[in-house]
Amino acid sequence: MTANESNTEQRWEGFFPNTKVIAIGSGKGGVGKSTVTANLAFTLANMGYKVGVIDADIYGFSLPRIMGMTEQPELIDGKSINPPEKNGVKMVSMGSFVNEEQPLAWRGPVLHGILEQFFRDVNWGELDYLLLDMPPGTGDVALTVFQQLPKAYFVLVTTPQATAYNVSIRLGLLAAQTKKDNIGVIENMAYFICDKCSEKHYIFGDTKDAVKNMADKLGIPVLGSIPLRTEIRSLSDSGTPVVLENEEIAEDYKTIANNMLEQIKNIDMMRMLRPTEEKTSCSISGGSSG
Ligand SMILES: Nc1ncnc2c1ncn2[C@@H]1O[C@H](COP(=O)(O)OP(=O)(O)OP(=O)(O)O)[C@@H](O)[C@H]1O
Ligand SMILES: [Mg+2]
Ligand SMILES: [Zn+2]
Repeated sequence: MTANESNTEQRWEGFFPNTKVIAIGSGKGGVGKSTVTANLAFTLANMGYKVGVIDADIYGFSLPRIMGMTEQPELIDGKSINPPEKNGVKMVSMGSFVNEEQPLAWRGPVLHGILEQFFRDVNWGELDYLLLDMPPGTGDVALTVFQQLPKAYFVLVTTPQATAYNVSIRLGLLAAQTKKDNIGVIENMAYFICDKCSEKHYIFGDTKDAVKNMADKLGIPVLGSIPLRTEIRSLSDSGTPVVLENEEIAEDYKTIANNMLEQIKNIDMMRMLRPTEEKTSCSISGGSSG
């Protein structure tokens, strides 16, 4: 149903002709997508890019708290909103409009409508990168996002635990099926550095290569690893993403961001080599000759 509707309306990425949209997803919940999205956003902003973030986890929103951006967006003429901004990052979330305890029970079409408003009715200005924090799994939002954003790049977050990376493969394959360009995998909670013995403990996995093997299966690289650190959790809970406080982890994130941008560059080059497919799959052309 939504597929037919979206053929007649403008696809969401039409609102962002000059912005690279990066969807960040995971097979399983709780692996750290939102934490990773928030920290990547501040890392990219710190590198000088203009960055926006959409909390596409409508029911399970968490970014206002994690990013420490809880102020109400400003409503302009009853039509559009100015998103909150912090350290050069703009963000919009369902949590900007309702409180955390409010139950949200909407069906697919409403979800679709809210997400569309996040793309259409927010005064984002010119952005270099727009990150989407997706809900876990291959549900409604993933399908909608994949359909509405044919040119988006896709990043998987997983922990090195079999129950996490095995379901990640499913989402990775769905992304590939809908012709999303998979950029790579971010390994979160890769290991724990012990206060007592200062050694790396591989809590979630027996083998260090588990995530690498999973990425190989999808034919994509591991963009980098983030350790499990109490500080990441506690800072996040208090609204300060760790990259704003901890140099060492900020460096890890910078490596990941650079690898990500490098991959995007490679993918863009590949896209130039397959121009016809891109054009026929796009149904918004209308009168333009493009
Ligand atoms: N590297 C890390 N070290 C320690 N704690 C972490 C790390 N990454 C995330 N966390 C914590 O793990 C919890 C889950 O993280 P987060 O909410 O980002 O996951 P998620 O994948 O977005 O979850 P959901 O699927 O519910 O949206 C949070 O309490 C977060 O602070
Ligand atoms: Mg989340
Ligand atoms: Zn130890």
